[in-house]
Amino acid sequence: MNKSRISKNWIRKQHKDVFVRKSKVFGYRSRAIYKIEEINNKFRIFNNNSFVVDLGAAPGSWSQYLKKIITKGKILSIDLKEIEKIDGVHFLQGDFTDIKNQEKIREYFGKKLDVVISDMAVNTTGNKELDSMLTGELCIEAMNFAKKLLKPNGFFISKFFMGSISKEIITIAKKNFQVINIFKPKASRSYSKENFIIGKFLKKYDK
Ligand SMILES: C[S@@+](CC[C@H](N)C(=O)[O-])C[C@H]1O[C@@H](n2cnc3c(N)ncnc32)[C@H](O)[C@@H]1O
Repeated sequence: MNKSRISKNWIRKQHKDVFVRKSKVFGYRSRAIYKIEEINNKFRIFNNNSFVVDLGAAPGSWSQYLKKIITKGKILSIDLKEIEKIDGVHFLQGDFTDIKNQEKIREYFGKKLDVVISDMAVNTTGNKELDSMLTGELCIEAMNFAKKLLKPNGFFISKFFMGSISKEIITIAKKNFQVINIFKPKASRSYSKENFIIGKFLKKYDK
């Protein structure tokens, strides 16, 4: 299929998509909001005091959702791309994998976090296996970071794409967390290999 046919199909699907329509009505920046909402409804993750970092936050619907729930806690979001300001959300533009940015995140909170969420994904190349590998590496990096920053009963939530790297992600998650769930929200398109890993209760805790 040529590029213009692909993008016409994409536009047609967006118009039909109930989550796209709903996000517009409620003023959310992306249909992705309904993924984190469903994850939270199922796993009961956030409360009004939560300290949360949102990795790969642009255009910002997950942070908009967090802000509605977290009234007394702290939210920091980071992305390579700029986002329109969200009151009460501290935004950092840059590469999460850069150690200097990870240090800035640690300094901002000044104490251990309740939740690390990551919706980071690389720009798709069209090669599904390569996309899965590259986004999977971001998931592993986020998990390594979460291991150092989370409270003992903290949550780690991250997007990944099913592929040859999934096994490695799940193995590392099992080493780090006592409870692991793999979950595909209804808002995640059925034809996509997207899934979310949810880890809870660190196995080892560094003060
Ligand atoms: C699917 S979008 C996130 C959507 C977001 N959760 C929302 O609700 O609006 C994935 C984002 O990951 C970001 N990203 C990819 N690699 C990153 C990195 N190394 N550091 C920070 N952000 C990254 C991309 O720039 C992109 O905006």
